[in-house]
Amino acid sequence: MNITISKLGQYVGQEVTFGAWLFQKRSSGKIQFLQLRDGTGFVQGVVVKSEVSEETWNNGKELTQESSLYVTGIVREEERAPSGYELTVTGVEPIQITEEYPITPKEHGTEFLMDHRHLWLRSKRQHAIMKVRHEVIRAMHEFFHENEFVKVDAPILTSSAAEGTTDLFHTKYFDNDAYLSQTGQLYMEAAAMALGKVYSFGPTFRAEKSKTRRHLIEFWMIEPEMAFMDHEQNLEVQEQFVAHVVQSVIKNCPLELKTLGRDISKLENITAPFPRITYDEAIAFLQENGHEIEWGEDFGAPHETAIAEHYDKPVFITHYPAEIKAFYMKPDPNRPEVVLCADLIAPEGYGEIIGGSQRIDDPELMVERYKEHDLTDESYQWYMDLRKYGTVPHSGFGLGLERTVAWITGTEHVRESIPFPRLLNRLYP
Ligand code: 4AD
Ligand code: MG
Repeated sequence: MNITISKLGQYVGQEVTFGAWLFQKRSSGKIQFLQLRDGTGFVQGVVVKSEVSEETWNNGKELTQESSLYVTGIVREEERAPSGYELTVTGVEPIQITEEYPITPKEHGTEFLMDHRHLWLRSKRQHAIMKVRHEVIRAMHEFFHENEFVKVDAPILTSSAAEGTTDLFHTKYFDNDAYLSQTGQLYMEAAAMALGKVYSFGPTFRAEKSKTRRHLIEFWMIEPEMAFMDHEQNLEVQEQFVAHVVQSVIKNCPLELKTLGRDISKLENITAPFPRITYDEAIAFLQENGHEIEWGEDFGAPHETAIAEHYDKPVFITHYPAEIKAFYMKPDPNRPEVVLCADLIAPEGYGEIIGGSQRIDDPELMVERYKEHDLTDESYQWYMDLRKYGTVPHSGFGLGLERTVAWITGTEHVRESIPFPRLLNRLYP
């Protein structure tokens, strides 16, 4: 393997060469401080005029922001450096001297940065967010692997809607119609009947005309589905899962969280169990606090934020009215007007990060729901089969990756927690 900045600690006192970009430079007549990055990390290279060849000195002087180079130097321990190391440069071999890099150290507007997302990703902050995103994904797979879940891939082109028909992306499928997947859930239900505990992780699409800091048109969702699991057990898996992910980021991304200026004490607190309130309690609380909302209405972002403010952990809101939730959710046997579901609301105003429920397992009730929701078309017949042949109680949930990463990194808007965001007015780059 080649030498990378993240591994410099293994080479203290030795001369190394690696490829890098220059992201900033300071210099006086006698010394140059080269701020270098290679994707794995950041390090300062120090070029001392009296100690290097004239060629090395001049090559260093030529370097502009985002020039690419091979740098050679001796690795030194340096307490004051964030990574703990510094490089005493002995050689600079430019690959390309970059001219007029558009993103300068000065402030830029959001639209400008979004137009240059392909370059903006190189910045320290965006780099840190992408590293945390990667750690979140890694920790999610780890959790499911350790708990005997099998990863099953759901199709992206589908013949049916699962989360309502209003925000479906439509496309032609030869002579037929198809939709981009809003959720892999229905397929995970089929897979759970074959494999017990399963999960999918893939892109999902919602043609939502929402322009909020929580909405993407294309986002990534992780969707576990579990046979022989009820509503209560479903919540337990969710809180353990989310706690595992957050604790893994704290453990494995200390430098990134520091770069992001994240208040780690708020994250350290994220351990199971999480508080639970019912939809009824949430409505009563909102009404008492001056919000105009009636039983039967869905929560908007301000409602979620008002509720979340009372907790320093994510909070489950359970038992929503059946009317405002998806057709497949199981009614509470004691109170059929509400369903055995929960939304998990993140702290600090980041909103709903998980939607989940126990699913209807009774074939007769499912037939009824099909009729009520006008799902008579053939594309849903296979889903009925799951209730016809060995139906069992089962539950699952979907966690939105970008909202979770936005919360953990303390990033205001989900557009920064995905590499190339698809927004209402943005398909470029
Ligand atoms: O609550 P949702 O719509 O639930 C489902 O799709 C279920 N079928 C999941 C399941 O039970 N398998 O979406 C789940 C999560 C939300 O809580 C949110 O985190 C995220 O997906 N999400 C979005 N994230 C970004 N942009 C959007 N437009 C999102 N819509 C949902
Ligand atoms: Mg939801």
